[in-house]
Amino acid sequence: MDRAAELEARARAALPPPVYEYFRQGSADEVSAAEAVAAWRGFRFLPHVLRDVSNVSVETRLLGRAFATPVGIAPTALQRHAHPAGEREMAAGAAAAGSLLCVSGNAGAPYEEIATAGAPWWAQLYILADRSLSAALLRRAVDAGATAVVLTADTPVVGTKRNAGQSVWDITPQGFAHVNEDRGSAPAWALEKAVDLSEEAIGWVRQETGLPVVVKGVLRADDAVRVVAAGADAVWVSNHGGRQLDRSVTTAQALGPVAAAVGDRAEVYVDGGVRDGRDVLTALALGARAVFLGRPALWALTCGGATGVHDLVCALTEELLEAMCLAGCRGLAELTCDLLTVVKHSRIDE
Ligand code: FNR
Repeated sequence: MDRAAELEARARAALPPPVYEYFRQGSADEVSAAEAVAAWRGFRFLPHVLRDVSNVSVETRLLGRAFATPVGIAPTALQRHAHPAGEREMAAGAAAAGSLLCVSGNAGAPYEEIATAGAPWWAQLYILADRSLSAALLRRAVDAGATAVVLTADTPVVGTKRNAGQSVWDITPQGFAHVNEDRGSAPAWALEKAVDLSEEAIGWVRQETGLPVVVKGVLRADDAVRVVAAGADAVWVSNHGGRQLDRSVTTAQALGPVAAAVGDRAEVYVDGGVRDGRDVLTALALGARAVFLGRPALWALTCGGATGVHDLVCALTEELLEAMCLAGCRGLAELTCDLLTVVKHSRIDE
């Protein structure tokens, strides 16, 4: 069993079944969720030989800040179900690994506490029907020291998941969700996700915060061009871990065309099914500047708290270093798409 599968098995044994199911599940028939991991493994490397690899570095800069690794933590909700300190513990693990944490808008720990971990962090946002609520959340994030906003754009409505029996929401206490929002007196309509968003939202987020804006959930090259033209500083290729439109393309397939269309006008990131250092090498060679881990970070947080998260990020980073060494690449700038070829699985594919 590989590391990711082993972590998941241990987390499954430790978590109440509705929590495990919430973390694991995809939407609808789970086709996209099921394809994500295998898609990275459909590439093969074309390594260089006879290159001096006595100094190999994976250090990088994301939106102008230095990081020890291009492996970050994706925003996921309800982390207090994985660990009593939730996002605060996740932040401590990310900080220890020199990694970047993106905090879900639906976090269970206050931004101010998350910030005490001392690592740079980005605030993820769903714009709500009543934008004044979103504006208040953004103000709190800015005041607590967020260094960028990640605007999740693939969720006008939440993709339907199949839940047999109790769902996680039936067992989620107050204080585990939405703790950075003041939802108390808001009417139900105001708390719905906005269904009328356009590129204008990017400028609105920047105006509210003065921070760089990352648009998460892009799968198409033309959308990537559109959001960059509207002022996005980065495009995050994601199908939300297969939790939104089921049968959406895998991110391993979507990344190359998006990165080619964006060029050097904005940074490009990716998540979805990234499980080891070879997946990271593939993603960076396809044009991503960073990769983000969703479920594996939740399993690591469940099994080992901050130490578990630190160990997970460090393990992927070590594997990336080894893979770069074996591919004859000294730095992330040398990871280009000529390192990759696509496997043809059978004669039928030819
Ligand atoms: C998510 N994801 C997510 N994305 C987001 O923008 N805001 C959020 O609050 C959440 N919440 C969330 C909860 C859970 C339990 C999961 C599994 C995922 C999506 C997440 O950021 C990311 O896109 C995927 O999880 C990446 O895929 P992997 O690494 O889980 O395969």
